[in-house]
Amino acid sequence: VTQNIYDNQKFFEKYQRLSRSLKGLAGAPEWPALRALLPALGGLRVLDLGCGFGWFSRWARQNGASRVLAIDVSRNMLMRARAETHDPAICYLRADLERLRLQSGSFDLVFSSLALHYVKNLRGLMWKARCSLGAGGRLVFSVEHPIYTAPSSPKWRTASGRRFWPVNGYLEEGPRSTDWLAKGVIKHHRTLATYLNMLLRLGFSISEVNEWGPTRRQIASQPGWADERQRPAFLLVAARR
Ligand SMILES: C[S@@+](CC[C@H](N)C(=O)[O-])C[C@H]1O[C@@H](n2cnc3c(N)ncnc32)[C@H](O)[C@@H]1O
Repeated sequence: VTQNIYDNQKFFEKYQRLSRSLKGLAGAPEWPALRALLPALGGLRVLDLGCGFGWFSRWARQNGASRVLAIDVSRNMLMRARAETHDPAICYLRADLERLRLQSGSFDLVFSSLALHYVKNLRGLMWKARCSLGAGGRLVFSVEHPIYTAPSSPKWRTASGRRFWPVNGYLEEGPRSTDWLAKGVIKHHRTLATYLNMLLRLGFSISEVNEWGPTRRQIASQPGWADERQRPAFLLVAARR
């Protein structure tokens, strides 16, 4: 059963106050790196999996996409996405990524930002994503990095005056219950090899992999992010059908 934590009021109230929820793409430090993985969007039919507030969907249209189908399971997220969108070429659909049905060959770009680590049957979803792409279609996504999702208690520690990120259970794939904005948020941990081999076995050709952390320049303007260079926070992948 899908948890749909973004419809938990306590969780949502805190999520709404995050920088990325207030500022959109400008408040997402990985956005410049993710944007660099995208093809030119002119005329593309785009699918946005786990669209949240629809920041990317609107950006895609502003950058020439012909239409966007934006999917999310959360009523809260979709309510704000719809309120902030005045564009008939963006269609928001409430659906569960675990049980999605997609028409074959109907998209040129499947995009997802920080949603796929909530999905248990990712292989099933990636298979459907691949079928939904036309010839030469692209897949571009970000997820929490496996080093980030592995630990049973994903929090910075300090020992001998040094901050470190404790990695345990890396090879034990499966659900993790974490306390992030609310207690018991379920995310699915998989290794880097699993993510990449899954795509290769489904017939994608991987064009780029980015184990994202802030650049030194970003840290100069946001010194609070310095620890984020101790380990990658996000995994960014671009692939072709
Ligand atoms: C961290 S937010 C990212 C939102 C948006 N992509 C962004 O980058 O701003 C994760 C989103 O994935 C959605 N999500 C999680 N599990 C889902 C599922 N099984 N089906 C559909 N959406 C899901 C959540 O409701 C939430 O809106």
